[in-house]
Amino acid sequence: MILRVTTIFCVGLLLVLGYTACSTSPGRRIYIDWGCVRCHGASLSGSTLGPPLKGLRSVWTREALVRYLEDPQAYTQKDPRLKALAARYQAPMPKFMMDGETRRMLAEFLLAQSE
Ligand code: HEC
Repeated sequence: MILRVTTIFCVGLLLVLGYTACSTSPGRRIYIDWGCVRCHGASLSGSTLGPPLKGLRSVWTREALVRYLEDPQAYTQKDPRLKALAARYQAPMPKFMMDGETRRMLAEFLLAQSE
């Protein structure tokens, strides 16, 4: 009896975990896999290492955001808002060697986050 209850519980748990893993959007997967979480947090609300990434739609177009992600430091040098933002953190936003498609999916995921 106990064995059966345990089995049912474990199977149920696996189903829930499997569902959660599979329902993660591709953009969020990229965000997690490339380690953005380390500085911007799992819920994108920022940390001592990086700013929150919410409501980016009001300051970024998709094209500009993709360009920023290609080479954050080069972009930041030309953008007063980003320069001021970067000055608040110890280390700058790193450059990630991802392909264009991955970068576009990531930008779309970020722009879909509201405040
Ligand atoms: C080592 C910490 C660190 C990591 C890892 C990191 N960032 Fe950043 N990020 C920063 C800092 C610091 C800034 C502030 C601006 C700057 O330095 O250019 C920033 C700024 C940004 C901005 C601009 C925010 C705004 O207000 O416009 C975006 C977008 C962003 N990061 C996305 C990402 C994504 C996506 C990843 C993962 C691929 C990532 N970051 C990984 C530290 C980090």
